[in-house]
Amino acid sequence: MSTPHFQIAIDGPVAAGKGTISRLVADQLGFLYVDTGAMYRVATLLVMRAGTDFNNENAIVKLVRSSNIQMRNPKAYEKDGRLTTVLVDGEDVSWDIRTEKISAKVSIVAAHPKVREILVEKQQIIAESQDVVMEGRDITYRVLPDANLKIYLTGSDTVRAKRRHLQSLQHGEFVTYKEVFDLLKIRDTNDMERVNDPLKIVDDAWVIDTSDLKIQQVVRLIVDKVHVMMDM
Ligand code: DC
Repeated sequence: MSTPHFQIAIDGPVAAGKGTISRLVADQLGFLYVDTGAMYRVATLLVMRAGTDFNNENAIVKLVRSSNIQMRNPKAYEKDGRLTTVLVDGEDVSWDIRTEKISAKVSIVAAHPKVREILVEKQQIIAESQDVVMEGRDITYRVLPDANLKIYLTGSDTVRAKRRHLQSLQHGEFVTYKEVFDLLKIRDTNDMERVNDPLKIVDDAWVIDTSDLKIQQVVRLIVDKVHVMMDM
């Protein structure tokens, strides 16, 4: 896919800071931020609401195809800590898709190749018409294989679990640290070991370990690099 637009592709495991960092980088550069995980979360929400079997790939494909999924920057009145606003048939599900209940099932939905095919196509269409910071698990090699900048963001298991636990508590979800840690390990394994487009580090990715870095430090590193690349 060849496009005149600047593409930053970011992959990495759960709670590596992809969302927060991508949002800030996009704001500073004036790019669109695209959270692809939100799309797989929406598919999972649709399955739960419809009471569909998580293993019924064709039924899930139908659900996804028949729903209008929209993602956009939060409007002024929506600034409640969300990084992006997600609408399904006009309903704001930005927080409904962030629960641990959804997190526990999303990797099953994301493993279906036909579901991935539809969502990857949607993601590629978005990136064709504007400069983007797109984050997920397969962005650097499947969705945007020709991205100008490829980044693999990671962090230690304990740092990532602590971050995710704090986020859950802040949103009134009273889960224990151990529950969050265990779920994070399961999701990492599912994401890295699945047959279809697993999470992996590509050869030309810039690997950034965020364990001992502040968010602003990582954002600066990336923004500075993009400025240098744009001047070249
Ligand atoms: O980034 P996240 O935790 O919101 O992503 C939710 C799930 O979606 C994650 O467990 C793996 C899946 N996912 C994926 O398979 N491919 C992507 N590009 C993004 C997310």
